[in-house]
Amino acid sequence: AARRRKELFQCHDLASKYYHHILVNTEAGVPALKYLRERGLTLTTIEEFQLGYAPNRWDVLTNFLKRRGFQEKFLEQAGLLSENGKQPGRYYDRFRGRVMFPIHDGQGRVIGFGGRILGKGEPKYLNSPETELFQKGRQLFNLNRARQHIRQSGKAILLEGYMDVITAHQFGITNAVAALGTALTQDQAKILKRNADEILMMYDGDPAGQKAAFRNSEVILEVDGNPRVAVLPDGLDPDLFLHQYGADAFRRIAEEGSMSITAFKLQVLRNSSQLSSHEGLVHFLSQAVQLIGEVKSPIERETYLRDLAGEFNVSLESLEKEMKMVSSFPK
Ligand code: UTP
Ligand code: MN
Ligand code: MN
Ligand code: MN
Ligand code: MN
Repeated sequence: AARRRKELFQCHDLASKYYHHILVNTEAGVPALKYLRERGLTLTTIEEFQLGYAPNRWDVLTNFLKRRGFQEKFLEQAGLLSENGKQPGRYYDRFRGRVMFPIHDGQGRVIGFGGRILGKGEPKYLNSPETELFQKGRQLFNLNRARQHIRQSGKAILLEGYMDVITAHQFGITNAVAALGTALTQDQAKILKRNADEILMMYDGDPAGQKAAFRNSEVILEVDGNPRVAVLPDGLDPDLFLHQYGADAFRRIAEEGSMSITAFKLQVLRNSSQLSSHEGLVHFLSQAVQLIGEVKSPIERETYLRDLAGEFNVSLESLEKEMKMVSSFPK
């Protein structure tokens, strides 16, 4: 079993080196290299993340790894090849015509890949399947590079995508990781919590990103972590934002613009409320109070209530009464 694991690591290591070689040294890699350069990545970044390219053919990796003595069936179990549904026992390259993002474990060993299509097409990213090495819910993209920076700063920045994390790194923001897919698991949250006092989510400024922030903050709270949220303007994701506004602007939003989950929920509620009408305002305040009622700490609750009272010119007393009323209702 130990030997099998070793061989699984080996074939991933070889595959990542091969894909990388194709990207940077061969004619077949030219369009992909052009694509990545046009997306603003430097050669240094491409090297550092060992990005690669899987050519749009059926047998490139298959032949390469077979020549190195690996069996096709084994490579299929490793998640690198797929089996032909109509002809069992026939295998082909799982990743074709894709930019390859190696996924490393905490110790820096390649355990899987994300592959992005060049341009448009479905799926946009094809990832390695769950294998003995790669359990998606237990890994965080870029943790191997980011861990020491997370520890030093006490802060982990959680982003949605591969490109967000890589661009952040290129811009000197080195404490960013991504859950592979948007739903954070408890295992992932625990890893972050162990290394950071604060977990700052900076998700895409779209409804999906907002939902992910709500859901993932619950997971972080379940493991006693401290979730925070910062929102980028104009529906930009961190990758696009950084290229447009730069690292200082990003840092400013990460620091000054970060808020607690409750503050974030209040902001979302507020943006969707009709504050100009009397009824709208009353409805907003009553929902806001209900939201604040879910906060555990009484001190924290009072500060939110005070802010609301001050801002909308109502008394703290009436907000407190309202809170007792709504929270004494059976749920
Ligand atoms: P996004 O759709 O926000 O993509 O998905 P992105 O990272 O901004 O990608 P670019 O900039 O268009 O290249 C966020 C993350 O969700 C996962 C990937 O990890 C992606 O980075 N995802 C997305 C998939 O695994 N498969 C998909 O088809 C799409
Ligand atoms: Mn190289
Ligand atoms: Mn998105
Ligand atoms: Mn995105
Ligand atoms: Mn993007």
